[in-house]
Amino acid sequence: MQSNQATETGKRNSLHGQWSSRMAFILAVTGSAVGLGNIWKFPYVAGQNGGGAFVLVYLACVALIGMPVMMSEILIGRRGRRNPISTMALLGAEEGNARHWQWVGAMGVLAGVLILSYYSVIGGWTLAYVFKSGSGAFSESGAAGITAIRDAFLGNWKTVALFHTIFMTLTIFVVARGVERGLEQAVRFMVPALLILLITLLGYSINSGHFGEGLAFMFTPDFSKLTWDSVLAAMGQAFFTLSIGMGAVMAYGAYLPEETSIGGSSAAVAIADTSIATLAGLVIFPLVFANNLDPADGPGLVFITLPLAFGQMPGGVFFSTLFFLLLSFAAWTSAISLMEPAVAWLVERFNRTRSEAALMIGLSIWALGLGTVLSFNVLSEFKFLRGTIFDNLDHLTINIMLPLGGVFITVFAGWVMCRNSTSDELGNTGNMYKLWRILARFVAPIGIIFVFLKAVGLLDYLSNQ
Ligand code: TRP
Repeated sequence: MQSNQATETGKRNSLHGQWSSRMAFILAVTGSAVGLGNIWKFPYVAGQNGGGAFVLVYLACVALIGMPVMMSEILIGRRGRRNPISTMALLGAEEGNARHWQWVGAMGVLAGVLILSYYSVIGGWTLAYVFKSGSGAFSESGAAGITAIRDAFLGNWKTVALFHTIFMTLTIFVVARGVERGLEQAVRFMVPALLILLITLLGYSINSGHFGEGLAFMFTPDFSKLTWDSVLAAMGQAFFTLSIGMGAVMAYGAYLPEETSIGGSSAAVAIADTSIATLAGLVIFPLVFANNLDPADGPGLVFITLPLAFGQMPGGVFFSTLFFLLLSFAAWTSAISLMEPAVAWLVERFNRTRSEAALMIGLSIWALGLGTVLSFNVLSEFKFLRGTIFDNLDHLTINIMLPLGGVFITVFAGWVMCRNSTSDELGNTGNMYKLWRILARFVAPIGIIFVFLKAVGLLDYLSNQ
């Protein structure tokens, strides 16, 4: 493949072009990171896992595991400049004489496909709420009425499937056109707008919600509520919200200009992402307590609390329509990054056009997504292992595949790649490089494996023998 040949400087180029600037890259990764994970998932997972202690563990995971994994992914991506599977094969052969590393890329591509299959269903749900808000359906209803609207929506599999189809179509459309065109613009507008809207809502929540109670719930750590299962959930959430562990950021890194600082960009993304998740929690929990809702309500939590808040606000119809629209945008820019690795692979490996590749991958993901569509209605009683089909997909990808991907990625960058290669990408800037190397070689992989083994109970089992 001609475009992957080394240039005079010894560096490779990507077949798919480059980001126009450092800012464009930060925005694209932020667009990937900020999504349903921040506003839909974070509050309900924190709610189900007892609040404060969970939030602390989550923050620790972002700093100690999330950051080194993200930096490793970007540096691997930029060095290989191909889709994650080929990049891992190429660098594996170059650095460690082992193309088997491509299986790590393959697991990532698969994880992206599985995540997007249910992410799209929830994305469709937010789209549906744009229309429901717009019609004023929420403005007169109290908590009970809004819960009834949600249950009626989820109960009808055909509507859920319809909006899942629309969401997937939008995603296929953008990926087919190429990530750089249009996406950079969308994110430039979306992230600031979402931030402004969240801050407006925060004002409302401070005035009308039980703010002290919400604050206490989020920031008073009660470690007695913390189980190893919830530590695993906190770690999984850190992976999910930063879009790491499956090669999405690696794929984006392949389009990163040579001179951009990887550490600086990663820190910017992690800070933006964490702030938005925290803000979402601060908006949602005070409203949960003020309305006697259950913080452990699960996946439907934001679809109740926010319509309720908007329903009582002046201009609520307008603001809630805008809010769900922005959330749909946020989900959209994330969905693109979930699909990009698989599409880039199909394009590079089988010489497909981008449109063909996007359509083929997209249709498969759409079909898989029907399993999640039915999990909320027809098949809601069909439970195995962790629960419904959705619950199992969610657990398998977020709590198992992403952390496992994180172990392999940090081990590869920290142990298999030689010092020269990694310091070449990260810039050998003294302490920062040393810190990354300690985190990537020891803290992240050992931490992930430890939490994982604790959660499945293997360590306790062995120590009792
Ligand atoms: N980070 C996104 C969110 O919070 C979801 C997402 C996009 C993602 N790309 C990913 C999660 C890659 C894991 C891996 O909504």
